[in-house]
Amino acid sequence: MVSAIYAGVLGYVYNDTGRLIHASLVSSATVSAFVGALFASMAAYRLSPWHPLARYPGPIPAKLTKWYMSVWIAKGNRHLKLQELHRTYGSWVRIGPNELSVDDPAAIRPVYSQMFRAPFYQGAPQDADALITTIDKNEHAQRLVGWTKAFSAESIKNYRSSAQARTTQLLEILAQKKDTVSLSQWISLWAIDVMGDMSFSGGFETMAAGKDTEGWMDVQNDTEGGVPLSKLQAHADASFIVLAGSDTVSEAMTALVRYVTADAKIQEHLRSELAGAFDGPIEDMDYYTLSKLPYLDACVQEALRMVPPVAAGPPRWNKDTDTQILNHVIPAGTTVACPNYAMFHDPRNFVDPDSFRPERWLKEGLAGPHNTEAYVPFCYGPGVCIGKPVALYNMKLLTASVIRSFDLSFPKDFSLTKFDASYKEHNLWVHDELLVSLKAL
Ligand code: HEM
Repeated sequence: MVSAIYAGVLGYVYNDTGRLIHASLVSSATVSAFVGALFASMAAYRLSPWHPLARYPGPIPAKLTKWYMSVWIAKGNRHLKLQELHRTYGSWVRIGPNELSVDDPAAIRPVYSQMFRAPFYQGAPQDADALITTIDKNEHAQRLVGWTKAFSAESIKNYRSSAQARTTQLLEILAQKKDTVSLSQWISLWAIDVMGDMSFSGGFETMAAGKDTEGWMDVQNDTEGGVPLSKLQAHADASFIVLAGSDTVSEAMTALVRYVTADAKIQEHLRSELAGAFDGPIEDMDYYTLSKLPYLDACVQEALRMVPPVAAGPPRWNKDTDTQILNHVIPAGTTVACPNYAMFHDPRNFVDPDSFRPERWLKEGLAGPHNTEAYVPFCYGPGVCIGKPVALYNMKLLTASVIRSFDLSFPKDFSLTKFDASYKEHNLWVHDELLVSLKAL
């Protein structure tokens, strides 16, 4: 449109005057005035009382442009910014021209069951949609059928032996390392290999290589009962599983190791619970006993609370109909997210929210708020994480294996304060290496 205006004005003025430079200057000025007027009218509308989200408070720059939040994502501090915005403006905050953040725990279930994924999920053009980038609710439901089968109790049982083998491989590697290791890096390679085994026949060998190499193998394409997937769709799904299941688990595990290493009492508590449950070899720990250990489970839940892998909360959208969420009517075309990090670190939901205190998840609990309604690290509704049982098992298996094998401490020159301060959230967490000294038990 802008180039059409430019060309039109250029042609008109040139025909009239015969002076090309003059015509080009007039055209540029006209186009600038047009673009300026367009932006000014858009800005005026977004700030006006006629905008559908006018009643929601928020910073003026956020109401004007999506760039406001993008800058905080680029800086890696969106999780903290959202926390600050909710403290300033309350439960419902306008964080973009058509975007709301809501930290009221009662809103989580209605938002995630009634609304679905925003076009944001489709991101850059790609050859085929993965399950998570399928934004049509019906198409997603059809594709989910095949996935539910792949994640059935029987399929997960088969997969557990390969997770166990990968964990044994990691323990062997760690046992050969001298004293201090970057445990965050080894956890991340372990998670990639575990997910590679699950998604691709054969899997990756990043632990063997000692670095993040990638190998693409044949895609498993068993979709009986669901819609048949094209080769590209199956490949997109398998690649997505590696991403969805490795970074999330390795970030939660890194947080768990960080807090358990920092507190000898927590480490001892875990070790004595494991000693009471298992007396055989580490590779023989059975799933059912492992999944029922309350303190191990509490440490895993607490790690997911302290550093939720999906920190900002997955955004949801209502395409063309208004949606009633509590006593709010959300106009069509609005994106809404419930910010996990802000809710999990809110003292109204969890007492002493910035401290790692696994006891809060035990029966006896802590004195003070413990609002599990506010705790949805795996999301809720039709887009809920279908890998949750796998993620919890992987985390418990690795934690139990490492704790039974090694005493963990930080090397003398390792600064925990510096490590904590290095955390940045750019949709995925990024931080310094977690260096840990291992003493074989
Ligand atoms: C601690 C680990 C994990 C956390 C915190 C987590 C969290 C989440 C969240 C919040 C979502 C919703 C995302 C959205 O709608 O934007 C999601 C979706 C998903 N996750 Fe996970 N996840 C974890 C591990 C895994 C693992 C291990 C797998 C695979 C084995 C997995 C597979 C998936 C899949 C396939 C979806 C898309 C589900 C759908 O579209 O129906 N996740 N996860």
